[in-house]
Amino acid sequence: MKHFLSLKDFTKNELLEMITLAQKIKAQTKEKNFVPYMENQTLGMIFEKSSTRTRVSFETGIYQLGGIGLFLSSNDIQLGRGEPMKDTARVISRMVDMVMIRTFEHSKIEEFAENSKVPVINGLTNSYHPVQVLTDYFTMIECGVTNPIVAYVGDGANNMTHSWLMMAAKLGFELRVATPKGYECDTLIVEEALRIAKESGAKITFEDDPKTAVEGANVVTTDTWVSMGQESEKEIRIKAFNGYMVDADLMSLAQKDAIFLHCLPAYRDYEVSEEIFEKHADEIFLEAENRLHTQKGIMVWLDQHRGDTL
Ligand code: CP
Ligand code: NVA
Repeated sequence: MKHFLSLKDFTKNELLEMITLAQKIKAQTKEKNFVPYMENQTLGMIFEKSSTRTRVSFETGIYQLGGIGLFLSSNDIQLGRGEPMKDTARVISRMVDMVMIRTFEHSKIEEFAENSKVPVINGLTNSYHPVQVLTDYFTMIECGVTNPIVAYVGDGANNMTHSWLMMAAKLGFELRVATPKGYECDTLIVEEALRIAKESGAKITFEDDPKTAVEGANVVTTDTWVSMGQESEKEIRIKAFNGYMVDADLMSLAQKDAIFLHCLPAYRDYEVSEEIFEKHADEIFLEAENRLHTQKGIMVWLDQHRGDTL
């Protein structure tokens, strides 16, 4: 049985299989052909942090696959009152067929997975946001980007950047990361990504100059400077990231038809200017919609690769 906690746990072929499934399911959905790949299955969705996209896309996704989603906010379940993660896992995984969790430390989702009888999907931890970046890859393909040269500008020590590192390393494309000093990616994750990149041929570079990173890129992306849980650092972070906004000047250095992606929510005139956000709104909201389809691909793939666990 496989869990979907980080892209590092999958081969390139497995990730491409999920994308292919997602493409097929998206096409079927657009024809209103809701194939019940997961008929009568229940997806437990545990949220310890806020969410718009992750909640709506997983809940709608499992419904479109013939199953049902249970929204379990940590404010409402005993986890929020101190019931241990491993007990929560041992209870919930006896009742549902798959679990999605959004939480803080990555070790918490690993603990849940170790104690779960059913596949567990990472819906964001402090370290990784793998369902989002796989969606971004799906969206890049739909936007016609065949040979990605991706520039990520902004916070390096966050879940999106770390997931981009793993995705570039696994799928073997070029990724340039531009972060201010003091906000670089986690050293251990970088080491692991560079080790995987050697095998796949991915080219991953780190800069502190956003211009160098964006020059000639065909995909430019960023994320909030203040991730969930970092609210008390807001003022200091906004100062530290001065000069890292993706604006028209910076985008003009990318390829002429470069796309801009943002996982959302976006903070206009901080990590991205209002002008660039609105200019690329079609790509950004296609990316948001694709969460629904990519995650259906991930869920069906995990379902097809589970042993007899119940
Ligand atoms: N991008 C993303 O995961 O959005 P939510 O926080 O709204 O789920
Ligand atoms: N890095 C952001 C992503 C939000 C989807 C956060 O963790 O808040």
